Amino acid sequence: MNRHIAVLAGDGIGPEITEGAVQVLQRTAEKFGHTFTFEPLAMGGCAIDACGEPLPAHTVERCLASDSVLLGAVGGPKWDGLSGDKRPEAGLLGIRKAMGLYSNVRPAKLWKALADASPLKRNLVENGIEIIVVRELTGGIYFGKRGTFTDDAMGETAWDTEQYSVAEIERITRIACELARGRSKRVVSVDKANVLESSRLWRRTVHTYAQTHYPDVTITDMLVDNAAMQIVKNPAQFDVLLTSNMFGDILSDEAAQVTGSIGMLASSSLGDTPCGLYEPIHGSAPDIAGRDIANPIATILAAAMMLRDSFGLIAEYAAIERAIEETLAEGWRTADIMSDGMRLIGCREMARRIAEHI
Ligand code: IPM
Ligand code: MG
Repeated sequence: MNRHIAVLAGDGIGPEITEGAVQVLQRTAEKFGHTFTFEPLAMGGCAIDACGEPLPAHTVERCLASDSVLLGAVGGPKWDGLSGDKRPEAGLLGIRKAMGLYSNVRPAKLWKALADASPLKRNLVENGIEIIVVRELTGGIYFGKRGTFTDDAMGETAWDTEQYSVAEIERITRIACELARGRSKRVVSVDKANVLESSRLWRRTVHTYAQTHYPDVTITDMLVDNAAMQIVKNPAQFDVLLTSNMFGDILSDEAAQVTGSIGMLASSSLGDTPCGLYEPIHGSAPDIAGRDIANPIATILAAAMMLRDSFGLIAEYAAIERAIEETLAEGWRTADIMSDGMRLIGCREMARRIAEHI
């Protein structure tokens, strides 16, 4: 199979972790007889530095022309003073929107070798955790109308709006139900229907759509404040968790930490075509950038998800996942997942060891 992959390394630790993932992809291609080509493109803070904007038109064009996109992370203190639409994060939101990637899937699983890394008591995690967060990615408050004004009555004021249409809710419900069908057939839909109008439409639509198209899937509603509590109280109760853009952003970080390290979690963003965007769920970690101590595993897993979900390469996905498991089982750890008796290595060596296991 020949595939062309756009690589948006981004800022902070982005370049180190994507380099590791590309190495693992190359090794996988050799082993399985594929040809992957890689095209580095600027997005985020590095694009602001190079051409004055976070998402150059050339990057969008080339991403749309590629078979899939691998992303590191964007942002950093250097660009924090910029206005909203000029920030590195605007580049990320822009590429999600431009590629129509409304479906963000973030599996938070507890790796056997890392059971001790979870901050939760052992009895809460000993039966394993695997929460698949399905986050709506191109709507809601992230993309709603916003503004600022100053007047005599209110003083300086800022506002954002959360808006969802039935069509937007239906298509993400379909993704969650499809996933649930291959698993427990249970979806927990998270909203704030006791307060928000958009959540009441969300709840009604999820039920109507699922009843009509997925009668075999059970939908349970949960308010977002309760969901935040339940994720730490009893994470094993969750399988597929369906929610809006902002709630998904927040709950996926929480689910990640419950499983041990945010450095282990990958995500896929897809729309109606196989061309997706794959990234770790963590940020650019500017404080540790360039020191070869970041954990490349989330990005390597994101690359594996690309093979499975965009290219249909299921055995290749499994080979990478197994390579990660074996490397962890040998005791190799980056600093974020280090524990007593384990062997500390850097980003580069972790990626090299995983590649060797393919
Ligand atoms: C994520 C990140 C982004 C988001 C930021 C960097 C804009 O937190 O992918 O979870 O909020 O979507
Ligand atoms: Mg986030």
